[in-house]
Amino acid sequence: MCGIIGYVGKKSASPILLEGLRRLEYRGYDSAGVAVLGNATLVVRKKLGKIDEGIARLLKAEPVHGSLGIAHTRWATHGAPADKNSHPHFDQSEKIAVVHNGVIENYDSLKQKLLATGHKFKSDTDTEVLAHLIGEHYHKRKTGNRKPETGNELAAAVSDALREVIGTYGLAVICTDFPDTIIGARRGSPLIIGIGKGEHFLASDANAIVAHTKKVVYLNDYDVATITPERFEVSNLGTDTANVQISNLEFSHEDVGRGKFAHFMLKEIFEQPQTVANALRGRLDFEGATAKFGGLNMTAAELRHVDRIVIAASGTSWHAALVGEYLIEELAQIPVEVEFAHEFCYRNCPLEKNTVLLVLSQSGETADTLAALREAKRRGHRALAIVNVVGSTIARESDGGIYMHAGPEIGVASTKAFVSTITVLSLLAVHLGRLRQLSANRATEILRGLEALPKQLEKILAQNDALNKLAKKYAKAEDFFFLGRGYSFPIALEGALKLKEISYIHAEGYSAAEMKHGPIALIDAKTPTVFLVPQDAMYDKTMANLAMIRARKGPIIALATEGDKQIKKVADDVIYLPKTLEPLNPILASVPLQLFAYHIALARGCDVDKPRNLAKSVTVQ
Ligand code: F6R
Repeated sequence: MCGIIGYVGKKSASPILLEGLRRLEYRGYDSAGVAVLGNATLVVRKKLGKIDEGIARLLKAEPVHGSLGIAHTRWATHGAPADKNSHPHFDQSEKIAVVHNGVIENYDSLKQKLLATGHKFKSDTDTEVLAHLIGEHYHKRKTGNRKPETGNELAAAVSDALREVIGTYGLAVICTDFPDTIIGARRGSPLIIGIGKGEHFLASDANAIVAHTKKVVYLNDYDVATITPERFEVSNLGTDTANVQISNLEFSHEDVGRGKFAHFMLKEIFEQPQTVANALRGRLDFEGATAKFGGLNMTAAELRHVDRIVIAASGTSWHAALVGEYLIEELAQIPVEVEFAHEFCYRNCPLEKNTVLLVLSQSGETADTLAALREAKRRGHRALAIVNVVGSTIARESDGGIYMHAGPEIGVASTKAFVSTITVLSLLAVHLGRLRQLSANRATEILRGLEALPKQLEKILAQNDALNKLAKKYAKAEDFFFLGRGYSFPIALEGALKLKEISYIHAEGYSAAEMKHGPIALIDAKTPTVFLVPQDAMYDKTMANLAMIRARKGPIIALATEGDKQIKKVADDVIYLPKTLEPLNPILASVPLQLFAYHIALARGCDVDKPRNLAKSVTVQ
């Protein structure tokens, strides 16, 4: 949510910043801007709208020159999307420019203080207040008119300002007095340093810089970094020394491109046979009839003592958590509770001694989920995580966990990460089950089922054209229901979320059984229902629920198991899925629903990779 890139080196900064912004656009696309410093002149360009229609055109018409710069793509929090609210923001003297991700919670009281001393503001943002505060401290620190000689005065002024700030930030700051220095700082919003040869980068997200370097330093909360072409330095506002570790990025810039696909979302849907295989790789232990993991950091004895698991997550990952609840309770017989991460943090629910918190997050940066993890740790509980982005804050702060290995997910609507999360949860359920009562036979059956998934997913993807046709048939509907029972219930929720977030059609996911207790009142001939009816233990009951919708003339699109002839008689349209074990049905059923949503959104002329009001990775609470 919002993206930052900074560059200092020998090359022209502007093309590097612009390309970085394109790579970061999925983080926010309300507006974008750059500040470039060359010949002691600081030039800012910013523009409302998406990168190509906004800032890219502006930079073409009015180029900027210099080999140091910072840039930002915005998802609005304070102040409406507008040119004036776009970053970078200047301080009062216009010598300092700042880009910022996060929220300065006490910006209003800081602003009042600054206004009282004569500061004038041009925007409605909290970031401009921060820029002025940094400027205020910087000018106080300067003695007389002497020009400071190193970047330290700027870093010190940033530190002074941040000590007054309540809230979250990932930021980059430049000043005309330091033509080869960028200051970065983070608290609650990710920021990394990219290490090059004779050049350094700052970025909120490795995607923005992976084309230039794979060597990075993930900053920790309260770190303040100084980068110049030749060196980087990190200090910490809270401790005497910063913990600096150089890591290698595990993906390349090809992985963050669209390849031959029209959209990132489509590319990521089609990657799923591979990403599921990646999630399984090295983890299927047929000899021991179990699943194995490297990083859980809990012994078998400790895991046997777990008597309750709370899974906390947000959005699509919360739907994955519901699948996790069914899997772990069925296979491992451990009671599981699923919490919205934001609710878990603030409702002080009782946690027994042997309760473990498990958080799920694609990005590893979702503020609500991170807060849940920290809350569980604060209360003395072990906190595990299933995460996609390597080196993300949640990955680093959890006590142990499992990576999805799905590769960068750029599409704002999560697809492959959802399927990878439930694949990993299936493995975890087998692992926990085998430490308790799960038989070797049943575990082996599930491992075989998992192993077969990549090929079965290929078969589903081969139905893309049919799903496109189906989507066109239903694209004009204004309301949809998605219904399922048992393992299919969370997938009904996820199917509805995918459709509404990218096509803006009102869609409700519900338990097929719960419909009759009220929502069935909404069913009519104009309201299609997507029914998940795999041939599982709930089949007959789900079919009975389906008949109730049919009796009220609701059009029915069924997701059924190959070979089911019965369903053809009662549904208007049927999508067939390969047969798998009941606990693994969610993995297969997710994919046609993703494609269905994708094609409907396209048919309605929506921008699937940049849905309105959304951005990838929600780093504000
Ligand atoms: C929906 C979607 C969001 C995310 C949610 C949590 O398609 O992508 O609902 O699932 O914001 O994000 P992560 O998993 O990164 O914590």
